[in-house]
Amino acid sequence: MSFDVDALRAKEYPWTLSGEQIYLDNAKTGAMPKRAAAAVSEWAALRAEPYKLTAYQDLEVFRKSRELIAKLIGAKIGEIACVVNTSYGINVASLGLPLKSGDVVLTYEGEYPADVYPWMSLAKKGVKLELIPKRDGLQDEARLLEELKRPEVKVVTMSWVSFSTGYRADLETIGAACRDNDVYFVVDAIQGVGAAQLDMSKLHIDVLACGAQKWLLAPWGSGFVYVREGMVKEIEPAVVGWLAMKSSEDFTRMVDYDFKFYDDARRFQINTLPAGDFAGLNASLELFFELGPAAVEKHIEGIVSEAVAWARAHEEVVRLVTPADPKRRAGVLAIAPRDPKAASKALAGAKISHSLREGAIRLSPHCFNTREEMGKALAVLGSR
Ligand SMILES: Cc1ncc(COP(=O)(O)O)c(C=O)c1O
Repeated sequence: MSFDVDALRAKEYPWTLSGEQIYLDNAKTGAMPKRAAAAVSEWAALRAEPYKLTAYQDLEVFRKSRELIAKLIGAKIGEIACVVNTSYGINVASLGLPLKSGDVVLTYEGEYPADVYPWMSLAKKGVKLELIPKRDGLQDEARLLEELKRPEVKVVTMSWVSFSTGYRADLETIGAACRDNDVYFVVDAIQGVGAAQLDMSKLHIDVLACGAQKWLLAPWGSGFVYVREGMVKEIEPAVVGWLAMKSSEDFTRMVDYDFKFYDDARRFQINTLPAGDFAGLNASLELFFELGPAAVEKHIEGIVSEAVAWARAHEEVVRLVTPADPKRRAGVLAIAPRDPKAASKALAGAKISHSLREGAIRLSPHCFNTREEMGKALAVLGSR
C-alpha cells in the first residue's frame, strides 16, 4: 500500500523538483496535479470553439464526478450532488432542514465561519446557534455528546477536521448519538476528504458538504454535497434549479414544466455548473484511484506523525496544537511556536508555503510531499 512519490512528483508535480518552493499548504489550496490543470485547459479550448462540444458533454462530466465521489466516500451516486463550494452544501442543510423557533443548533467554538454564519442567519426564524467551548484548546467532544441529548437540540454541525487545530471528529460516535437522539448531523468535510478515508455506508450523517479545492487537489468551483438517501425528501431544496426535475434532461420538451424533483440528491444540484472545473476534479479523482486512497492517507499520516513526534520532542520551543493520537488528526498539522508571526516570516523566507491560523503555524502535506520537505519546515520552527 504505497506509491512511487518520485515518479508522482516528476509526472504530476514537476515544479517540486526544482526545489524553488516547498508547498505545505494544501489545507488552504490543494496543488492540482498536471492532469487536472490540463483537463481545465481542454475545456477552456472547447469553449473557445464550442461547435466541438457534443450534446450533454457537460452533464456527463457532472455525472462522472458524482460517480467518482460516491466511490471515494462509500456513498451511493444518488446521494451526491455537484455543488460549487462547501458553503453551498452547508446551506442546503441550514435552509432546507425543517427547523422552527426554539430549535437549537450545536457546534464548536472556533468552527470555520462557513459552518457558523449559515446557522446564525436562522436567528431571524428563532433558531439558536450554540457554541460548545473548547477544552484545553481543543474541540470538546465529550461535552457535545452530553449537550446534544437536550430535547431542543435539533442539529449538530462541525468540521470533520478542524482548519485550525487539525482535530478530527469521531464521526461514528457523534453520528450514532445524533441518530439515537433524533438530531440532524451536518458535517463540513473539506479538511478531511482526500487526506483521510471516509466510508459513508458505515456512518450516520445526514448532510456532508465538501469543496474540492483543498485535499481533493481540484479546481476552485468544484465540490459536492452528500445527502443521506433517507433524508433526500426531508430536506426542502431552498434553491430550485431547472435541471433538478425528473423531466429535465429531455431538452425537446423543456416548457412542459413538470414540477417533479428527481428522487435523489440531484434535486439539490444547480446547473449550469463550471464543467471545466469538474473535469479537473475528475482528473484529480482518477489520480487518487491510481495511487490508492488508502496509500495517500498512509503517506500523509507518515509525514504528519513524524512531525508530531518532532514537536513533542521540542516542547521547549514549540507547542503541538494538533492531537498526538493519529485517530484524532488527518493532514492538518498545527504547531505553535513562541512567536508565530516571526516563525511565519522565517518560513516564507525559506520559501516554504504554510498558513498562520489562530496563533499557530499550519502545515498540510499531501501525496506529493516528502518527509524531507516537512523536515526543512520543522528545522525553521526549531531554530526560532
Ligand atoms: C473547514 C472549512 N470549511 C470551509 C472552507 C471553505 O468554504 P468554501 O468551500 O465554501 O469556500 C474552508 C477553507 O477555506 C475550511 O477550512
